[in-house]
Amino acid sequence: MPRSGALPFYFVRKGFVMNTWSVAVVGATGAVGNEMIRILEERNFPVGKLKLLASERSLGKSLEFRGKSYPVEVLKEDSFGGVQIGLFSAGGSISEKFAPIAAQAGCVVVDNTSAFRMVPEIPLVVPEVNPEAIAQYKNRGIIANPNCSTIQMMVALKPIHDAVRIKRIVVSTYQAVSGTGKKAIEELEQQTRALLACQEPTVKVYPHQIAFNCLPQIDVFVENGYTKEEMKMVNETKKIMDPSIAVTATTVRVPVFYSHSESVNIETERKITVAGVKELLAKAPGVKLVDDPANRQYPLAIHAAGKDETFVGRIREDESIANGINLWVVSDNLRKGAALNAVQIAEILIQKYL
Ligand code: A2P
Repeated sequence: MPRSGALPFYFVRKGFVMNTWSVAVVGATGAVGNEMIRILEERNFPVGKLKLLASERSLGKSLEFRGKSYPVEVLKEDSFGGVQIGLFSAGGSISEKFAPIAAQAGCVVVDNTSAFRMVPEIPLVVPEVNPEAIAQYKNRGIIANPNCSTIQMMVALKPIHDAVRIKRIVVSTYQAVSGTGKKAIEELEQQTRALLACQEPTVKVYPHQIAFNCLPQIDVFVENGYTKEEMKMVNETKKIMDPSIAVTATTVRVPVFYSHSESVNIETERKITVAGVKELLAKAPGVKLVDDPANRQYPLAIHAAGKDETFVGRIREDESIANGINLWVVSDNLRKGAALNAVQIAEILIQKYL
């Protein structure tokens, strides 16, 4: 039963009686919002009513879902009457304001922004890692979706942590521009075209040119000299997996459209061999092992784009310490890193809790 008074609709399909749910996508016109709509459709999420919400700029636009056109509505305080599940991806300040309003109206919010991730009573969930935390949605009516770079690292590391306890993680990321949103996708494309035509590129979204470049700054700098993105990886890993793990991160934006890649070095309490790691990851939920260096097979951003799995390869022993392993972890940042993880949370929510 939903928390709200709004009862799920029932409909009969091919002899089955199915519950359907009233779903709102907030930020529906954005890079993640688009992917959320696509994933709801692909996974046959039992959507009854669908509300697509964005800013006034999108008034008059419509988007397709299951072959039907839905008008984009302007997000307002009264947008959530009768809505049971809200998938939010319109930026932190929008979530800060509207997620509590939606929750108050009886809608359970799965929030893709960083607005509530570190609020102690709000669960921060990767379904392959800590699905039990979803039960805490009752505290505030909000569940937080972690940062894209954190999610894929958690999916790859959870089975190893369970087996031999990870003590320390050193991660460097190579992050796609789609993580910043649609404007950044356009900026990389336009800068690339301009430079190839020997024209001056326009720099708007990032502090420097992103085409043919690597930017060792994602989000703003904080007092300790790290960026917010780096500290998200540190703090979210502790909240999701284990507060005792030491984490240090360097996050870098690279001129790739889709999929984040990560070099991950771990130090474990107990020894594990490369073969042991491969055995664990071969059967880990959400992971696809691609590790055949002799045939030049390893995870690539271009192969991960559009896929659901987190791809892991280049697994090597770190010969500089007693119990160390290196891995290369790649996943589609808009899918597992954002929209897919949010929809998976919503699936567990309706199956187990609402
Ligand atoms: P809009 O397209 O109307 O600006 P992205 O991360 O790809 O940039 O997408 C951001 C999403 O958040 C878009 O759907 C955008 O809508 C939405 N958004 C941004 N600002 C607001 C706002 N003030 N109210 C509602 N939606 C917003």
